[in-house]
Amino acid sequence: MIPLLWRAQEQHDGWVPEPAIRYVADMLGMAYIRVLEVATFYTMFQLGPVGKKAHIQVCGTTPCMLRGSEDIIKVCKSRIAAHAHEVSKDGDFSWEEVECLGACVNAPMVQVWKDTYEDLTPESFEKLLDDISAGREVVPGPQMDRIFGAPEGGPTSLTEIDDDTTGGTAMPHVVDGAPAASLVFAGIAINGGAQPEAATLEKTKSAEKKKPAVKKAPAAKPAAKATPKAKAELKALPAKEEQPLLEGAGPALLAAPRGGKADDFKRIKGVGAKIEKTLHDLGVYHFDQIAAWTDADKAWVDDKLKFRGRIDREDWIAQAKALAAGEETEFSKRVDAGDVPTSKG
Ligand code: FES
Repeated sequence: MIPLLWRAQEQHDGWVPEPAIRYVADMLGMAYIRVLEVATFYTMFQLGPVGKKAHIQVCGTTPCMLRGSEDIIKVCKSRIAAHAHEVSKDGDFSWEEVECLGACVNAPMVQVWKDTYEDLTPESFEKLLDDISAGREVVPGPQMDRIFGAPEGGPTSLTEIDDDTTGGTAMPHVVDGAPAASLVFAGIAINGGAQPEAATLEKTKSAEKKKPAVKKAPAAKPAAKATPKAKAELKALPAKEEQPLLEGAGPALLAAPRGGKADDFKRIKGVGAKIEKTLHDLGVYHFDQIAAWTDADKAWVDDKLKFRGRIDREDWIAQAKALAAGEETEFSKRVDAGDVPTSKG
């Protein structure tokens, strides 16, 4: 029902007339009231004429309100019409206040047709109206230099390579502001207009009328690959001989494993082959070394590994203590049974 109503709205200058609602009900063999209930419930459906170029839906829910949506509404009142659902004198714009549209992290925001414009200020919103009015291209999403939902100024977490020991392979997360996961979403964010064709409402009178007039520019693509810098950072860790051995800041380090054989650190949850090698390069070869780390030692190692927090998060110390005492942990049992692929080799 919703896709059909949406299609009807697209075919009828951005709003759903009552005959279209009845027509959708007939197509689906449903009572008119059922379709009317849906069309009147969701703010995505307009029940009266809207601006030809844009119907602006301003989110007025708490996060957006706290971040300035009232100022955006003031612009709507001065630039478009004094009241919500009133079409501007030139017929190009209308506006309304709606509840949360799910982009709170980039508040305040507005939605125009299918797209959201976020991180608005009164100035950037006025520019958006100017651009739409003049038929210039506009780019949906944050209207500042924020990358999708990342913090202002760039990502602050997941900036390292994750040497996942819980069954996956070593994965880059977020490097140089190019969130790997966001590549998945980029198609949606960039190609917001690309929708599968829905059924045509043959008898809807305005079926051939033109589509809403917002011209969207393609958003900047995120960098395609982001691993080299992080890899270089790991490689750039100081060589073992540059580390203070058994003296100065940091934990007790060894020049070589005792007896020429290092413990298998991959039996510690949170340590894969890559982290194990880095620990070896630092001069850490044995469970008892890790078991003896103080808070200051942990901070020193954290800094060297560039995996802040992992030592505590996975509780390496407790695991290392058990393993140093010849005991097993749940994880080491899985490793010994060959159930943890990244711990092999
Ligand atoms: Fe505005 Fe959620 S509160 S998008």
